[in-house]
Amino acid sequence: MTEAIDAAQAQTNGRRERPADARTPTGPFAPEALDQIEREVAAAFESAKTTAELDAAETAQLGRKSTLAGLHQQLGSLSPAQRRENGRALNEMRARLEAILARRRKECAAAERVDRLAGDRLDLTEVLPEAGLGHIHLVVRTQEALEDVFVGMGYEVAEGNEVETDWYNFEALNIPPDHPARGMWDTLYLDWGDPQSVLLRTHTSPMQIHLLETRELPIYAVIPGLCHRRDTPDASHLSSFHQLEALVVDRGITFGDLAGTIDTFTHAFFGPKIRSRLRPSYFPFTEPSAEFDITCTICEGSGCRTCGGTGWLELGGCGMVHPAVFEYVGVDPEVWTGFAFGFGIDRLALMRYGIHDLRSFIENDARFIAQI
Ligand code: FA5
Repeated sequence: MTEAIDAAQAQTNGRRERPADARTPTGPFAPEALDQIEREVAAAFESAKTTAELDAAETAQLGRKSTLAGLHQQLGSLSPAQRRENGRALNEMRARLEAILARRRKECAAAERVDRLAGDRLDLTEVLPEAGLGHIHLVVRTQEALEDVFVGMGYEVAEGNEVETDWYNFEALNIPPDHPARGMWDTLYLDWGDPQSVLLRTHTSPMQIHLLETRELPIYAVIPGLCHRRDTPDASHLSSFHQLEALVVDRGITFGDLAGTIDTFTHAFFGPKIRSRLRPSYFPFTEPSAEFDITCTICEGSGCRTCGGTGWLELGGCGMVHPAVFEYVGVDPEVWTGFAFGFGIDRLALMRYGIHDLRSFIENDARFIAQI
């Protein structure tokens, strides 16, 4: 009944009057009680030092389990007029508290940013431990040392492409299609138009053809570079490995020059105790052909596990340039003769540094790399 009168009064006056009995002077909604709660919540927000503490204070003071939420729930048990009046008081209080919360959030974020920037500042006077310097890979170091030896012997160092055509890698080297010798090299072909015509070079020997086509004779050249084969990596094989090719073409070059050159380079590179020897072999682009061995660098010839007790280690292939190769590039084999040899630089580095497995070179194990 009273509520009806209240409402009527409010309507007749054209504004909503505060009902006389709406705020209870005692109990949880008493102005003093609400003021006390507001002071406590505000103090909790003011004393939070970080955004995280503020989050926790917000949950505790305004969250579902807070005193304020409890008061909101109690509104339901009040008369409509009291509910309206006390509800408004609670909402106003909440709005004031949320304003404090927002202000504190800005303050905490600003303070945290200042702290973060101070933490990030570089101390330019700080003395740091010396940074470890990188170093040249053993295979590259070996290649450079080999180049030095050959430059000292009067050779030019030439370079070539890893991508070759079938012509340079095989045909011009006297290995026509379907020649059984193609089986000596497990080839990686590139899918560039004509299948099986573009490939990753399987050896550096195609550079013999490039040099014969482009250089004035005589030629004294070495060509180091990467080669690729479908070889499964193991202790003595990699699928990408380095070879060094040597090509000499001049008037009157003999097999004796070839043997002498290999021996001279072996001494110069490995020292006087290491000798070389040739064994008959076969390569379609050299005639006669040989494989050459050097004294085992581990046991110096007495026989050990690495050389299988023979005292020798196989290094590469060699021979006199086949007259058919000269004819492919228009060089007269009656006037010019020459020799070529090629060997694996990675395997040479293995021998030089007493390493047992080629894969160590490419595995990037920091413990291995750091000690070389
Ligand atoms: C050749 O590649 C010939 N082109 C060498 C040659 C040049 C003969 C000039 C005559 C005249 P061969 O396939 O044997 O030959 O390879 C030569 C050397 O390359 C090997 O002795 C070895 O040291 C190295 N080699 C070959 N395959 C691999 C491999 N998968 N991983 C590491 N080294 C290899």
